[in-house]
Amino acid sequence: MLNFFFMIVMAVQSLSNIIKSSLGPQGLDKMLVDDIGDVTITNDGATILKQLEVQHPAAKVLVELSQIQDREVGDGTTSVVILAAEFLKRANELVKNKIHPTSVMTGYRLALRESIKFIQNNMTLSVDSLGREALINAAKTSMSSKLLGHESEFFSEMIVSAMLNVKQVNEAGEVKCPVKAVHILKTHGKSIKESCLVDGYAIEAGRSAQGMPYHMDNAKIAFIDFNLNKYRLAMGVQVLVQDPENLEKIRQREMDVTRERCKKIIDAGANVILCSRGIDDFALKYFVEHNCIAIRRVKKNDLRRIANCTGGKIVVSLADFEGEEHFEESFLGNCTKVFEKRVGDWDYTFFEGMKATKAQTIILRGANDFFLDEVERSMHDSLCVIKRVLESNQVVPGGGAVEVALSIFLDDYARTLGTREQLAIAEFSEALQIIPKTLAINAAKDATDLIAKLRVFHNASLKAEDEEKKQLKYSGLDLVNGKVRNNLKAGVLEPAISKIKSLKFATEAAITILRIDDMIKLAPKEQEDPRRR
Ligand SMILES: Nc1ncnc2c1ncn2[C@@H]1O[C@H](COP(=O)(O)OP(=O)(O)OP(=O)(O)O)[C@@H](O)[C@H]1O
Ligand SMILES: [Mg+2]
Repeated sequence: MLNFFFMIVMAVQSLSNIIKSSLGPQGLDKMLVDDIGDVTITNDGATILKQLEVQHPAAKVLVELSQIQDREVGDGTTSVVILAAEFLKRANELVKNKIHPTSVMTGYRLALRESIKFIQNNMTLSVDSLGREALINAAKTSMSSKLLGHESEFFSEMIVSAMLNVKQVNEAGEVKCPVKAVHILKTHGKSIKESCLVDGYAIEAGRSAQGMPYHMDNAKIAFIDFNLNKYRLAMGVQVLVQDPENLEKIRQREMDVTRERCKKIIDAGANVILCSRGIDDFALKYFVEHNCIAIRRVKKNDLRRIANCTGGKIVVSLADFEGEEHFEESFLGNCTKVFEKRVGDWDYTFFEGMKATKAQTIILRGANDFFLDEVERSMHDSLCVIKRVLESNQVVPGGGAVEVALSIFLDDYARTLGTREQLAIAEFSEALQIIPKTLAINAAKDATDLIAKLRVFHNASLKAEDEEKKQLKYSGLDLVNGKVRNNLKAGVLEPAISKIKSLKFATEAAITILRIDDMIKLAPKEQEDPRRR
């Protein structure tokens, strides 16, 4: 069993070693090349792990772990894997010293419970007391480790404004900030500083015919999810025509069916038509005559979102129960302004002043696809961070402050227990220090020295009576100067929920793997040969 567990720890450790160097503001990026030569350059833990070819089943648990963190929190995907790997490494040492895995698991669970309580009671700060500055700082911290790091001032403003604009409070008084309401569009050309925030939704498509207006006030939008092409009889239907004149009539009727459909849509009051499929030229002509904007081949996702935001309904077919066709006014969505504008090499259509919910669009500019893709991922991380901060309203200082404070607290706590779980808790507390240690190593600073200093500060704050000394609990690393500073004042903030969840997920993943004591390879299932029946 020992040998088996050793193999697991080796696999997990090698995975964590791959992403260790990308942690923190001074962390480096990875270039991933797949078998057809596609290149991804990224710093995001979840993206790196998702693309790796992982064979060991235990290592796959860690890949899954980073995906969960990405889905639930959005940021902290690198830290969570490093933490879980360290928990396992230390558990392995304990098991080697004849401590039963069950005791280790109990100890880890206890340590987790106490840590969460400690973070909630001692380390969190409410955003209301810190103001908008805290939001900007949280966005900056999450961006600092990415390509965008040096432009963080510009982008954090943009992200915070976007999230504040889509913020809603529902009937129960809960704050909701849907990240999906912020749409990110990537366009080649110009520099990253030329990116902009648009108050509304934008899609990557222009008007389908030149004669249509560029601009429409008080737009009533129809969302069509069927072809507005010439009507054709279904496959396999045969029509026998004896008089050649009738043939012409059939052709005319085929055109008229679509024309009538267009007329019904226009009569209902629509002046902007978004169609997810094709629109024939003669139908376009009809729309031009009525001074409407029609856009064909709009992406399904865009159609759905604009319909949601404007209070419209996607129409799949005009048929009603009586077998007739009709289009109601209630299917239309409303927004104050629809217009087409050229950005870079592409035409975009903008929708502003949506009726139902607000939407925001960030148009990113940049030199190439690798760059734009990575910027989009970083933006997504920061948007998620702001969402968490706005929804839970609590932040904690970053740069290793929480980890070291917890470590000191757990050391003390372990000493109050007279059971063998004490050892597991002590190891848990040691394992937490891997985060500040890796941060310092990546910044080419003396990790041992810095952590010793940090521990002194946090120890002093835990024992302190007066308020001034208690402030030392916000001490964290200054990775540029290689010093210890008050990270609350320095503005290195992270959402509290992100720290709590990553601790939870990392411990749970470590426990899942710890519970395994053997791996059994199953023989492949024999597939029944259908010919043998
Ligand atoms: N200016 C800073 N000074 C000190 N520490 C910082 C600073 N900015 C960020 N950090 C720390 O860096 C760590 C985050 O690093 P990073 O963003 O590379 O990884 P992650 O958030 O775990 O994963 P990912 O962003 O890839 O999902 C956090 O522990 C944070 O406290
Ligand atoms: Mg991050």
